[in-house]
Amino acid sequence: MTPSLQTDGSLLLLAPAKLNLFLEILGKRPDGYHELSTLMVAINLCDEIIFRPHRAEILLSCDTPELAVGAENLVVKAAQLLRRSTGCQDGVAIHLRKKIPWAAGLGGGSSDAAATLLGLNRLWKLNLSVVELKELGSQLGSDVPFFLGENAAWCTGRGEILEPLPARIPLHLLLLKPASGCDTAAVYRNLKLPPNPRSGQNLREAFVVGDARRLAAEMFNRLQESAFEMNSEIQAILAELSRTSALGCLMSGSGSSLFAVAEDESHSERLAAELQNQKLPAGTRWWRVRSL
Ligand code: C5P
Repeated sequence: MTPSLQTDGSLLLLAPAKLNLFLEILGKRPDGYHELSTLMVAINLCDEIIFRPHRAEILLSCDTPELAVGAENLVVKAAQLLRRSTGCQDGVAIHLRKKIPWAAGLGGGSSDAAATLLGLNRLWKLNLSVVELKELGSQLGSDVPFFLGENAAWCTGRGEILEPLPARIPLHLLLLKPASGCDTAAVYRNLKLPPNPRSGQNLREAFVVGDARRLAAEMFNRLQESAFEMNSEIQAILAELSRTSALGCLMSGSGSSLFAVAEDESHSERLAAELQNQKLPAGTRWWRVRSL
């Protein structure tokens, strides 16, 4: 995520969505969070965020009326956290063009927060290091540190401990989002802890060597069953996807979005055509995407 300076002096950042190709829960922690291991990849579906200097206030506007733009928005929280931790008193007007569906398990809010830390670090000339920004990011949400530099990473802890992974080839994917979303905390609450957690080692190897077929066979998400019980649309979409020629399909994060893996770009085109004939729940949206 590199801030680009616009001719009018504003800064533009593209904040990508992420997918979880593997997600296993290792246990519940005393602080209520879950210890997990997950492979996250950023994809080329991005929110656009514009930062403009603005007196002493933090103002957020958004092109999507359904999204709250007050103190509960992670973008505002990120700006306030930066001011509190550095003593900076500058203001900013932030405009968010929302492209990533929310309540979808795609990390859109976390990515927007990460973009805000990066954008304001530059706009307010704070000179914080990436390590310092990641520490602040982890206070905002488990996925925020990932978006502060990585395109693909093996993530542990509550998701904030990162081991960057090299991505050999872009993965070509179809991404689907039912009309309904999922409440992350509720999906975690409904989860049954596995007696024998999976290691994800095979999937990790398949990812690193760029073997889409093997990767698709090894994909797994422990939260999927829990989300299924709370949202019937996810199961309905997965059933339709499994009737296509996709190499594999999975829910991302805590849902409700799902993705299907294609062999290559032309297969993803064919998959998109196949999808036209599937009976997806009303209001389901979909995109052809690739990993970054
Ligand atoms: O960290 P974040 O704010 O994104 O997490 C949202 C919710 O998801 C948490 O309040 C918690 O209920 C759940 N969660 C969890 N374990 C994690 C990450 C998230 O239980 N590792």
